[in-house]
Amino acid sequence: MRPIAAPTPMTRFRRLRRSPALRALAQETVISTGDLIWPVFVRDGVGMREPIHSMPGVERLSVDLVVKAAEEAAALGIPAICLFPYTDPALKTEGCEEAWNPDNLANKAIRAIKAAVPEIAVMTDIALDPYNANGHDGLVRDGVILNDETIECLVRMALVQADCGADILGPSDMMDGRIGAMRQALEAAGHRDVAILSYAAKYASAFYGPFRDAVGASGALKGDKKTYQMNPANGDEALRLVERDLREGADMVMVKPGMPYLDICRRVKDAFGAPTYAYQVSGEYAMITGAAERGWIDGEKAMMESLMGFKRAGCDGVLTYFAPAVAKKLRAGWVWG
Ligand code: PBG
Repeated sequence: MRPIAAPTPMTRFRRLRRSPALRALAQETVISTGDLIWPVFVRDGVGMREPIHSMPGVERLSVDLVVKAAEEAAALGIPAICLFPYTDPALKTEGCEEAWNPDNLANKAIRAIKAAVPEIAVMTDIALDPYNANGHDGLVRDGVILNDETIECLVRMALVQADCGADILGPSDMMDGRIGAMRQALEAAGHRDVAILSYAAKYASAFYGPFRDAVGASGALKGDKKTYQMNPANGDEALRLVERDLREGADMVMVKPGMPYLDICRRVKDAFGAPTYAYQVSGEYAMITGAAERGWIDGEKAMMESLMGFKRAGCDGVLTYFAPAVAKKLRAGWVWG
């Protein structure tokens, strides 16, 4: 029997995958150091570094070493560093007063970095959880997380952080109306050029576990965050949140976590064209580094591939604990092909 000849393919996609040169020409997306925001954990003391068990390679650093980290980041071309304090449990209260103490750890770190490395942008975290005796992002009364009362606290935090020299404020609390309240207060206080990167679409996620260890909030947290963080099943709601936060005066918006929510990143970017960021959160970092430690995946390749995914999904940048490692790879001339 005569075999039936398969038609000759006219479109051979493999033509452009044949060599590194052709792969480079056909590459659609690039990662650069300018896409990176590096989250760092701050602790008290001097010359102190302390590993975080569930985040291999990540440490809590005392303020002097955070300044060194900022210098290193600036030298690598990383544009921004984001500060998360580990607060002494003795300073945590139900009223969260430590949150707007101008001399709390986060505010000390902002001032120290801006004094030593003014060229790096300092991003902050605005939420009550590192200071709250019950681990929640908002004030709690009778088991209810209070929205409007919490906003008053968040505005205080925002103003103090701006006074300390923060460049980008990062409200991560998910209370309704906080962006507008902060923006108005900043304008009134003369902080017209302080940017707000709203954690606009933040999901109630299992991927935050290692972070809560890192800031010492895991033990403290009573219950869950489902009355303020989003249901992972929802996508349209994310668009409505982003629209609202942009209208209230956010300059940049974030989707968080990152890898399980790349569809949201793409939808947000397509719908608004605003500066859009993803947070590759602690659990995502732990999955990649944990599997790599066991020899189950190539950690560096997985890291770069995951970053490429964010860029391909439309993100302008990524908050990632991998930031220095990625920047070093890029500096060393890393190319995909
Ligand atoms: C809380 C906050 C969280 C993260 C950043 N800010 C955790 C939470 O909502 O419980 C998580 C970041 C990460 O997991 O890397 N305001």
